[in-house]
Amino acid sequence: MRPETRPGHDAERRRVVGRVLDSGPFALRLEAPGFPAHAPGQFAMLQLDPGLERVDPLLPRPMAVYRREGDALEFRFRPVGRGTRIMGSLAPGEAVAVVGPLGRGFRLPEGAALLVGGGTGIASLYELARDSSGPLRVALGAATQAELLGLEDFRALDCELSVSTEDGSAGRKGRVTDGLGIRPGESVYACGPNGMLRAVAALAEEARAPCSVSLESTMACGFGICLGCVVPVRDGFRYLCTQGPVLDAGELCWEDLP
Ligand SMILES: Cc1cc2nc3c(=O)[nH]c(=O)nc-3n(C[C@H](O)[C@H](O)[C@H](O)COP(=O)(O)OP(=O)(O)OC[C@H]3O[C@@H](n4cnc5c(N)ncnc54)[C@H](O)[C@@H]3O)c2cc1C
Ligand code: FES
Repeated sequence: MRPETRPGHDAERRRVVGRVLDSGPFALRLEAPGFPAHAPGQFAMLQLDPGLERVDPLLPRPMAVYRREGDALEFRFRPVGRGTRIMGSLAPGEAVAVVGPLGRGFRLPEGAALLVGGGTGIASLYELARDSSGPLRVALGAATQAELLGLEDFRALDCELSVSTEDGSAGRKGRVTDGLGIRPGESVYACGPNGMLRAVAALAEEARAPCSVSLESTMACGFGICLGCVVPVRDGFRYLCTQGPVLDAGELCWEDLP
């Protein structure tokens, strides 16, 4: 199934130039007036603006919108390579091209919800947690305490929060899915590495709970052109950039995902 987008037109229409308010190794905040309203879990492609001072040949990098407050757009990330390191070292006032919001985000829960975030996937869940109105449980896990993106923000929410780290530096030592149970009536929302999502999807299937997962693949274009983000589903495949990144866990062919 081809995505119904007009890449060139859409990229230009959804592109704004943000100015850096502050940045650090795990966070970037931009003043981005004109960035359209978005749903929790949608993402943007970030690139240093080639028309402005700092020229960089990098492909744009997909990043979940962590939080928007007025014109301030915030991203949380783990520095894993060149792009994320540059993003964390920008000076106030520098320009970043932001194309978005892209993809399909999460629908707000209508009842009780369990949110499960692993590693950088935590960043896709903050606004979903903040905007949920029913009973809410949040389980966050990462390799180390430093990688629990936005932990203080989650602590400030009205939710039952559990935290785990693989090295035991915060919360329980182990994986976020260890001992995780799904309560009757809960809907499940998850973002993280595929192994974690596979485990969450299996728990949800066992509990017969609805489960939405957001996948973080590599993405070169964000507009359905490069095929870099295609994932297998029961009736064919989906482009994560235009038909995801949030998909129903039940439609994915988990056995064929890396
Ligand atoms: C929809 C979406 C939303 C995302 N949101 C966030 C977010 O909010 N915060 C965040 O930290 N990251 C997020 N990511 C992942 C992020 O895009 C990558 O970490 C980033 O592009 C890496 O760029 P780099 O230049 O720093 O690393 P590169 O130099 O490109 O790669 C460095 C290392 O990271 C690995 N890598 C690169 N991209 C990914 C990826 N998508 N998943 C897993 N490993 C990868 C590479 O294989 C390599 O080992 C998201 C990805 C998607 C698709
Ligand atoms: S990122 Fe290029 S097709 Fe999805």
